[in-house]
Amino acid sequence: MRTRVLAVTVDPMVDPAVREAARLIARGDVVAFPTETVYGLGADAGNSEAVEEIYRAKGRPADNPLIVHISGAAELESIAKESTETALRLAEAFWPGPLTLVLPAQRPFRDSVCRGLSTIAVRCPDHLVALALIKRSGCPIAAPSANRSGYPSPTTAHHVLADLQGEIPLILDGGPCDVGIESTVLNLSRARPELLRPGGVSVERISALLGEEVELGGGAEERVRSPGLRYRHYRPHAPLFLIESNVAESLGRAVLDQIRQRVGRGRIGYLGHRRSIGSAPDVVMADPRRDDVEMARYLYSDLRGFDRKNVVAILVDQPDGEGLGSSIRDRLVRGAAGRLVSVGEKVAWDDQKDRWNE
Ligand code: TXA
Ligand code: MG
Repeated sequence: MRTRVLAVTVDPMVDPAVREAARLIARGDVVAFPTETVYGLGADAGNSEAVEEIYRAKGRPADNPLIVHISGAAELESIAKESTETALRLAEAFWPGPLTLVLPAQRPFRDSVCRGLSTIAVRCPDHLVALALIKRSGCPIAAPSANRSGYPSPTTAHHVLADLQGEIPLILDGGPCDVGIESTVLNLSRARPELLRPGGVSVERISALLGEEVELGGGAEERVRSPGLRYRHYRPHAPLFLIESNVAESLGRAVLDQIRQRVGRGRIGYLGHRRSIGSAPDVVMADPRRDDVEMARYLYSDLRGFDRKNVVAILVDQPDGEGLGSSIRDRLVRGAAGRLVSVGEKVAWDDQKDRWNE
């Protein structure tokens, strides 16, 4: 299959590329499209065969359910059985935007996107191309991130092409994504709101709006409720190592020496602000990022860029803040599979965890 890339050049509601993408989705094909978080791989959420094609194209484990994208809260009732007052308040406050709500599913979607669960994940993306595509296709669009399963998500059309060339008919190019990491996934199907994945909307803002604490998911039980948590995610080809913020600048070279011993010769990619590391021989630096917003926006692009340069390892300074900082940390920790350089008696990483994850 030849994969076309079509840029959106005019108002998305009348753009010919969007119209073509909508035509393909309506007839049961899959199309990659931009959202404010990452690029998605979309298909008609109610069409089981079309949805299966998403799984095939990206090599996604069959039991990992998909997020359904709608163009406004009014469409919620066709997707979710009960849109609770909490859901409507959150939608009002954060949609369109990077917040996904998990609710009891309407019957027709159970056989396509829910993968055996009785709940469905739904969000309204804050991107004019995505919204126009949903409206023009005339159906809710199921879409996971448009990467090969396990690899960092795509934030440009070019990333999608690198991963899925020959697997899908069309990529809509709407430029680079603004947020850069995926939506926050919040489970509203239980007595108390539960965070299944931190993301573009911080858990602090959600708690503040609801006036109640959000339970933090991620344990063994949540892995059953959100099957995606079980699998490898966000992993570049080169092994990723994280440096905790408590590691002193003066230890930079010692950190690098240890990693060298482990990965051998070759260039090491570095994303961070430590001069002791950035100035070392054979270290390739990404542009240092000003704050968490910028770090999130370019994170996957930076990781993919290191792989393209064939580095033997990637080293990243872990952000330590709340909010977006903790969402970035979540992606990095999963991508690094426990390779965390921290300070104890000496600089060391947690080999125990490392073995457990690999
Ligand atoms: O920002 C995003 O959310 C992007 C864009 C394209 O919208 N999409 C995305 O989809 O990140 P994906 O498939 O890569 O991640 C969806 C996550 C997975 O961890 C999945 O297990 C979880 O949401 N999920 C989907 N349906 C669920 C459900 N019914 N219950 C619990 N978790 C669910
Ligand atoms: Mg994904």
